[in-house]
Parts: sequence; structure tokens; C-alpha cells
Amino acid sequence: MDVTFKIKRQNPEIPGKDKPYWQEFTLTDVDPTDRVLEMMHRIKWEQDGTLSLRRSCAHGVCGSDAMRINGVNALACKVLIQDVGEQIQIEPILGLPVVKDLIVDMEPFFDHYKQVMPFFINDNPVPEDGRERLQTQSDRELFDDTTKCILCACCTTSCPSFWANGHYVGPAAIVQAHRFIFDTRDQGGQERLNILSEPNGVWRCRTIFNCTPACPREIEVTKAIGEVKLAIRKGTTEGIIQPHEIG
Ligand code: SF4
Ligand code: F3S
Ligand code: FES
Repeated sequence: MDVTFKIKRQNPEIPGKDKPYWQEFTLTDVDPTDRVLEMMHRIKWEQDGTLSLRRSCAHGVCGSDAMRINGVNALACKVLIQDVGEQIQIEPILGLPVVKDLIVDMEPFFDHYKQVMPFFINDNPVPEDGRERLQTQSDRELFDDTTKCILCACCTTSCPSFWANGHYVGPAAIVQAHRFIFDTRDQGGQERLNILSEPNGVWRCRTIFNCTPACPREIEVTKAIGEVKLAIRKGTTEGIIQPHEIG
């Protein structure tokens, strides 16, 4: 089958191409089970070597090829042609400055990530027997879901609250904070909750829910944000996982 790609391009360094513009490419002999990323490679390698995109693993693991495909954020390597049709529109993810074509500057995104202290904090000496810091299976389940994040930015860059105010820490950073706040072995939870109580923290989330369907890892992003909000309201993470209480 033939497939037409309409790609939003921009090269801020070249006069005449420094504003966003659309360019169409048609590929022949496309298989319905081909992936969008492979087709982007074909365009780059067969038709226009200047097309720029970020990618690495091609298997949904590294999170580097987030883009807007027919208006929906996704990882290009996970999307089959048969699921998006023969006319495909590709744009860079929204809310971050474009470096070139589909490559955006991820620094603001990672600045928010660093803000929530996304690392394990525990000042107690390691157990004398040299074993891991243990926890129960049910304690581990509290943050199982949020360990799956690959920092692809699909959630944050699909959030209208983030588009309106880039200072909002965004759902990805909150997911990362959740992973440690609800880890019973970690001691930095209260500090993270304090950070997320600030004006650009969790309360900028208006429960718009774009982030959850955008997540390629199927993390329940809005639920995690709700659990963090509830922990701030209650002043504790104890007994938080009560979905009916989350507003
Ligand atoms: Fe990507 Fe999901 Fe992590 Fe957001 S929560 S950065 S969409 S993996
Ligand atoms: Fe945005 Fe998701 Fe909240 S889309 S407003 S972070 S529920
Ligand atoms: Fe690594 Fe798609 S290229 S997730």
C-alpha cells in the first residue's frame, strides 16, 4: 500500500525554514504491520536525509521517539501503520522548544524531573548482613505502576495545563516522585510532598486526563497524581491507596 506522511518541519538555524512548515512524503510498498518509526527511517534514508528525529532502541524501551501522530502523543516505534491509516500527520510533541523537525529540547522536562529528587533517600546504615533493604510485597505494590516510567514525556507534553504554563512540574515528574514517595524504605517523601505542594506542583493538575491514555507504558498517571494530592491533603502517605477517596 501507499502511505502519505505529512510532517511538520522546522530548522531554526536556516532562514526560510525557521518557521514551522508542512512537507509531504509518499512511501510505496508499505506493509500494514510496519511501524511508523521504520517508515520515518525510510523517508530519511530514501527521500530526505535532512529529516531529523530522535530514536534509539526501536522497541519501546528508551522513550526517545515520542512524537504527535495524527494528533496523539505516542512512541513512533510502537505504532503500526494499520492503526493510523494511509494519511499520517506527524508533529513534534508540544510545549517544548523545537531544536529541529521532530527533535525538541528536553532540558525543561528534565529540570522538572530533577526538581522532585528522583532518587532513593535513606540515611540509615545498610543492614549489617549486607542484604537489601527489605519490604513486604504489599508495600512494593504501592508504587509498582510508577516504576515503569521511561521518561518519554508523552504525558507531560499532552497536558493542556503544561502547555499553558511550562513551569508546571508536569505529570511525568509527579509519576517519578510517586515512585519514591510511596516507597516505604525511602525517607525523602515529606520533602517531595512539600516541593509538590508549591504553586507549580500537583495543584496545577486540573484532572484533564490527557496524560493517562498518552502513556505508552500504560501507567495510571492521573491516579498516581491523585494519590500524591491526597497524601499532601492528609499530610501522610499512610493508607492513601483508597481510589474512592481520590478527588
Ligand atoms: Fe512516558 Fe508514561 Fe513516564 Fe509519562 S508516565 S514519561 S508517558 S512512561
Ligand atoms: Fe494534565 Fe494529566 Fe492533570 S493531562 S491536568 S496532568 S490529569
Ligand atoms: Fe526507543 Fe522508541 S526508539 S522507545
